[in-house]
Amino acid sequence: MSDYSIAVIPGDGIGPAVTSASEETVAAVADRFGFSVETTAFDWGTERYLDRGAMMPDDGLDRLAEFDAVFLGAVGHPDVPDHVTLHGLLLPIRKGFDQYICKRPNVLFDGIESPLRGYEGGDIDFVVYRENTEGEYADIGGREHAGFDHETAVQSALFTWRGTERIVRAAFEAATERAGTLTSVTKSNAQAHSMVFWDDVVAEVGEEYPEVSVERILVDAAAMDLIRRPDEFDVLVASNLFGDVLTDVGAQVTGSMGLAPSGNIHPGEAYPSMFEPVHGSAPDIVGEGVANPLAAVLSWSMLFEDLGEDDAAAALWNAVADQLADASAPRTPDLGGDAGTEAVVADLRDRL
Ligand code: NAI
Ligand code: MG
Repeated sequence: MSDYSIAVIPGDGIGPAVTSASEETVAAVADRFGFSVETTAFDWGTERYLDRGAMMPDDGLDRLAEFDAVFLGAVGHPDVPDHVTLHGLLLPIRKGFDQYICKRPNVLFDGIESPLRGYEGGDIDFVVYRENTEGEYADIGGREHAGFDHETAVQSALFTWRGTERIVRAAFEAATERAGTLTSVTKSNAQAHSMVFWDDVVAEVGEEYPEVSVERILVDAAAMDLIRRPDEFDVLVASNLFGDVLTDVGAQVTGSMGLAPSGNIHPGEAYPSMFEPVHGSAPDIVGEGVANPLAAVLSWSMLFEDLGEDDAAAALWNAVADQLADASAPRTPDLGGDAGTEAVVADLRDRL
């Protein structure tokens, strides 16, 4: 029997390419640290939807539940509306497995040029704790009076004390561990119900963490300041929507979508967590063999850290950092190089 059994959903577009490439590094690292990983692939995604009308089977969550963790490539297809792919696969897993922490590190690696002037490797290093089960992505709403000129849409956001408290607490814990500042992102000036409620939770939980300094910032100012002063952030905590938007900004200022990893974490024992690159299915480059596999590799690193395999996690992370710091190493075009996915992974395997 293997030490770990991992469910793998390669998904759509470049998802399968970055998944299979990154799996090669997993085999290398497991060998090196003396444990075994068995992966089981699930062919869920838009091909299945176009074939059979559903992104995953009805008992999909039950089938995933028995695994130690889930790895996902990406979903999304130009011929299928994005709300179908998101609501058919990703959101049901995040919510159904109560993966309430979406953890997204944003690191400017040595050797990577930020599009922002004046930053060097290590200057930018923050992590976003995004609420992942409620907020603006709650499935509450509807449409009325279709076809009339008074057609109406209602979409409600859901903020519970428990849901807010647990993500805020996770962020305070992270800030404590990093001996850093916690930045709470809201829009309390305009959204005087949900976001002032969020502020109240931050104030109450913050009483338990007197050593953590708390900064409050409005989301529009955060979008600006992640570009103006990204080096000053450490841990950010934000709602589902705000965290989603800001982490794309974070991915860009640290070099590329192709370098941004992510974990959807259920910290308890009840359900598996799911790890995935932040990027989507990238239909503009699919099939060209140039997808950057490093966001996927870094996501596996987060997966192993979550399983307690800290050495393997560090080895994967450091191999990526080494490669990026090495000006002669192969790079994909998103990082200014002309190498393909395969060459990048072969080089990583050597480093491991
Ligand atoms: P995207 O992340 O797929 O692509 C944005 C840009 O970044 C594109 O120019 C793409 O070529 C580039 N890019 C992304 N990943 C890359 C990589 N590994 N290497 C090199 N370049 C990379 O976002 P977009 O275009 O907004 O969405 C495309 C599809 O993906 C849509 O259907 C969307 O719904 C879906 N999507 C899925 C996500 C997921 O599975 N978690 C997340 C974001 C989008
Ligand atoms: Mg996003």
